[in-house]
Amino acid sequence: MQWSNETNSLLSFPTGGMALVVGATGGIGAALLGQLRQSNRFAKTIGLSRHAEPRLDITSATSIESAARSVVGCALPLRIVIVTTGLLHGEDLLPEKSWRELDALKLARSFAVNTIGPAVLMKTFFAFVAPGREISVCSAIRTGGEHRG
Ligand SMILES: NC(=O)c1ccc[n+]([C@@H]2O[C@H](COP(=O)([O-])OP(=O)(O)OC[C@H]3O[C@@H](n4cnc5c(N)ncnc54)[C@H](OP(=O)(O)O)[C@@H]3O)[C@@H](O)[C@H]2O)c1
Repeated sequence: MQWSNETNSLLSFPTGGMALVVGATGGIGAALLGQLRQSNRFAKTIGLSRHAEPRLDITSATSIESAARSVVGCALPLRIVIVTTGLLHGEDLLPEKSWRELDALKLARSFAVNTIGPAVLMKTFFAFVAPGREISVCSAIRTGGEHRG
């Protein structure tokens, strides 16, 4: 995966600072983390998921808060957060092909990972961003924007 020329706005980031990818063990997350590292634009790049350190489970507000404290505790300014977590297939989970396959518990699980988790993650990280400092946020599900702490 390569940043296209159009999206090669990494150059607009001041050098130094931190970049964070949440969902870094996935296909998209691992590729983007690799690109961020290669860009040499950031002093530190961090990849989080349930299988990374610090561990982050996006369905747990406590886990998100503890990961946010750990990341922000690094003292470098956090410049960009890319969220590439997602759940489409699971042990007993497949994308529904018919209304007959809709199941309340599976829908709740899917919403917890795909919708509520990223929203709580953003809220939590924004709360740690110093007032007046900008942070770029992008999601694999929907492109984000610039936010000011
Ligand atoms: N692939 C595509 O073509 C495509 C296109 C557009 C959009 N998307 C969306 O982009 C997202 C990522 O796609 P992908 O292909 O990279 O998926 P993937 O390879 O399945 O990766 C999913 C990532 O989400 C993490 N994750 C899952 N549940 C989590 C949880 N409870 N807490 C924290 N992390 C969790 C996984 O890490 P751990 O298992 O280590 O926790 C993994 O890093 C998905 O939502 C997908 O629908 C994909």
